[in-house]
Amino acid sequence: MPGGDRTQDSGEHIWSRRNLLSLGASFSILGMFGAVTLAIVRMLFPRVLFEPATAFKAGLPKDYIPGAVDDRWIKSQRVWVIRTDTGFYALIAICTHLGCTPRWLGPENKFKCPCHGSGYTKDGVNFEGPTPRPLERAAIKLADDGQILVDKAMRYRYELGQWDTPGAFLKFSS
Ligand code: FES
Repeated sequence: MPGGDRTQDSGEHIWSRRNLLSLGASFSILGMFGAVTLAIVRMLFPRVLFEPATAFKAGLPKDYIPGAVDDRWIKSQRVWVIRTDTGFYALIAICTHLGCTPRWLGPENKFKCPCHGSGYTKDGVNFEGPTPRPLERAAIKLADDGQILVDKAMRYRYELGQWDTPGAFLKFSS
């Protein structure tokens, strides 16, 4: 009978809509549950940034040649250790213009930045190019075991008169 079919069809449609509604509600509840779970997990395991250590041992003083710019720590630490007649200093190899890594040009006796051409003396003082200030020095001292200890977290700036402070230079005579 056509009328009965219509009722049955209509009933199936209503049932389908109900199914869809309850399915949607289930997804919503599931989504909320997931969001709450995620929030709890994030609270339990906060995002922590593990940065490499800022201090490193740079070997024994006798390993360095007086007057030479030693670049053995450039790749791993971005630091040059320079030995003078009276001691050591550690220069941070970050150009003070926009942060590129300068290179030591031995024959020209200067550091030169490949990005925009800033130049620095062996001491780290800027003398050419766009950089507004000298390179920074890292804290340097002797560790208990006799090795040179460099700490990049502590920095000294020439223009602030900080290169004369004790940590900026390690007095040493062999
Ligand atoms: S970043 Fe070194 S000169 Fe610009």
